[in-house]
Amino acid sequence: MAKIAILGYGTVGSGVYEVVKTNQAIVDGNAGESIEIKYVLDLRDFPGDPVEKILVHDYDVILNDPEVSVVVEVMGGVEPAYTFVKGALLKGKSVCTSNKALVAAKGPELIKIAREKDINFFFEASVGGGIPIIRALNLCLTADDIEEISGILNGTTNYMMTKMADEGWEFDEALKTAQDLGYAEKNPEADIDGWDACRKIAILTSLYTGKNTDYEKVYTEGITKISAKDIKYAKELKLRIKLIAESQKTDEGLVAMVAPIMLKKSHPLYNVDGVLNAVYVRGNVLGPAMFFGSGAGKLPTASAVVSDVIAAVKNRHNVEVVWDDEDLKLSSVGSVRRSFFVRVSGSEDEKLPKIKELFGEVSTVTAPGVTGEFGFVTKVMSEDEFNKGYEKLDGAITRIRVDNVVNKQEEN
Ligand code: HSE
Repeated sequence: MAKIAILGYGTVGSGVYEVVKTNQAIVDGNAGESIEIKYVLDLRDFPGDPVEKILVHDYDVILNDPEVSVVVEVMGGVEPAYTFVKGALLKGKSVCTSNKALVAAKGPELIKIAREKDINFFFEASVGGGIPIIRALNLCLTADDIEEISGILNGTTNYMMTKMADEGWEFDEALKTAQDLGYAEKNPEADIDGWDACRKIAILTSLYTGKNTDYEKVYTEGITKISAKDIKYAKELKLRIKLIAESQKTDEGLVAMVAPIMLKKSHPLYNVDGVLNAVYVRGNVLGPAMFFGSGAGKLPTASAVVSDVIAAVKNRHNVEVVWDDEDLKLSSVGSVRRSFFVRVSGSEDEKLPKIKELFGEVSTVTAPGVTGEFGFVTKVMSEDEFNKGYEKLDGAITRIRVDNVVNKQEEN
């Protein structure tokens, strides 16, 4: 029998308890031995809850119990999670976590301790919720030179953008519903400002390069500036706006970024709606691969955590994860080539000559009910070239990237 402890009885922690209890026979069968939840750690009390009898408030009870071989950390945030996880690993207990903040900030160090102790630090649920992408990158896509990963990695913002486009919901209504459904972070600014997706693309980039990607160096824009008017223009252009996290090898080096991007119908991520997440991976010999599914929420995330628990019980020795502490050098997003959608105040007659001077030929667009302004889409150009023109454009209201260069072969 394997005994485990769950740190944190919030959305994911209670989901882990529920998944183990609901699927106990399957979980035990796949682990090769029965799995018992011996402790749940939380500061709060849960009178009448099934975990009441196994609830502890003192982490040392878990740390000092030699029977506990796997610790599940689902508290979120870097501290005290980092101290607890490090302590467990140093005591020879494997750790499974859904905590992307912890993994993005301390991944290489915790992986190294697990390697030295010949145990495991698993973090499948930290990216893509229930979608198996971490293990795929670590164990399956290892024969390829990965050239690109693009993903919808934040369920909250994808849910919000979908509802705003399809139902005409306002930003605040969409966010409130995503919070009520248990998708959003405790501090939802991490979702809407792009930091959650940023940490996730940093984790994936570290895994496929083997070097540490400092998430703070990843160019990050959230969805807070996307308005109902932008969505109207996107509809006219038959495009959908998604918060995309991408990491790609360019001639100038590896570029990682998070930003709202307008996608064409032919883009593999165009139809990924609601809370669903998807990760598009392109390898030099594999070509494209898509991973698609439930990206956030209690049970999908808990499913990935429990699969890690099963893997930790089955693999009593360390499963190698290549993610060194050497920092990965990221190149500037300025070199990435794509089109840009721009909204500008005034009329086409008045503004187009200057626009053509700055950007070359563009195609213009108007949106129903939007007056006193128009939009245009540039040809494919580097972000640096675009910015030079945009800075000189009088009356510019906003700009959104347009990804029309999947596989970088479609220029014009
Ligand atoms: N807040 C995150 C999301 C939870 O919306 O995707 C899953 O990481």
